[in-house]
Amino acid sequence: MWLDNLLEEPLVYRLKTRLLSFGRRNVRDFLREFPSPPGHERVLDVGCGIGGHADAFATATLYVGIDENAGYVKYASARHGRRFVAMNATRIAFADGTFDLVFAAGLFHHLSDDQARAAAREMTRVTKETGATLIIDAVLPVLWNVPGRLLCRLDRGRHVRTVASLAALLANDGFQLHLGNIQGSFPYQRAVFLRCPCRP
Ligand SMILES: C[S@@+](CC[C@H](N)C(=O)[O-])C[C@H]1O[C@@H](n2cnc3c(N)ncnc32)[C@H](O)[C@@H]1O
Repeated sequence: MWLDNLLEEPLVYRLKTRLLSFGRRNVRDFLREFPSPPGHERVLDVGCGIGGHADAFATATLYVGIDENAGYVKYASARHGRRFVAMNATRIAFADGTFDLVFAAGLFHHLSDDQARAAAREMTRVTKETGATLIIDAVLPVLWNVPGRLLCRLDRGRHVRTVASLAALLANDGFQLHLGNIQGSFPYQRAVFLRCPCRP
């Protein structure tokens, strides 16, 4: 779709996220306040887009954002004084156990089931044994939430799932539903899945 192609441009994407933010600030607040046991020292943001969540980790020793869109990565690098790398979530080029916190916000509805499993495995692999892996994603809201359903339908990501199907997809890799919805996301419903050895 022509709109999808247009959104691949970092400036257009930034404008869209500013105009249609729908609770993105709440996602950032959730990330900022998330109590990761080792304290967010080394953080990997998978599918980071133009780096919209980087500021939530201003005090982290290391923040790295990866995204398959090289244009977004270039834009994010120029905007934030952090490290951004063009990389596919299904083949993360970091060693096992590199990061304390690995998260993806809004990535999984862009991935097919096979890609989602591969990305979840890779995210888990690069998380330290004592660390936490978080997946935050839009899920299909209840039927009466017509604007939410419409937004999901119009989204560039073609794999918006129900909370149950995303839970089933991620269960094999040890993720559990942590939160059914991040408060203030309406009309989106954003579920949070967590894999954390500290919280069985
Ligand atoms: C909805 S945006 C979310 C961006 C950012 N996380 C945020 O919350 O603002 C989804 C991002 O996932 C990226 N993406 C999609 N498939 C990917 C893949 N296989 N590997 C890495 N990034 C991918 C897209 O380029 C896009 O930047």
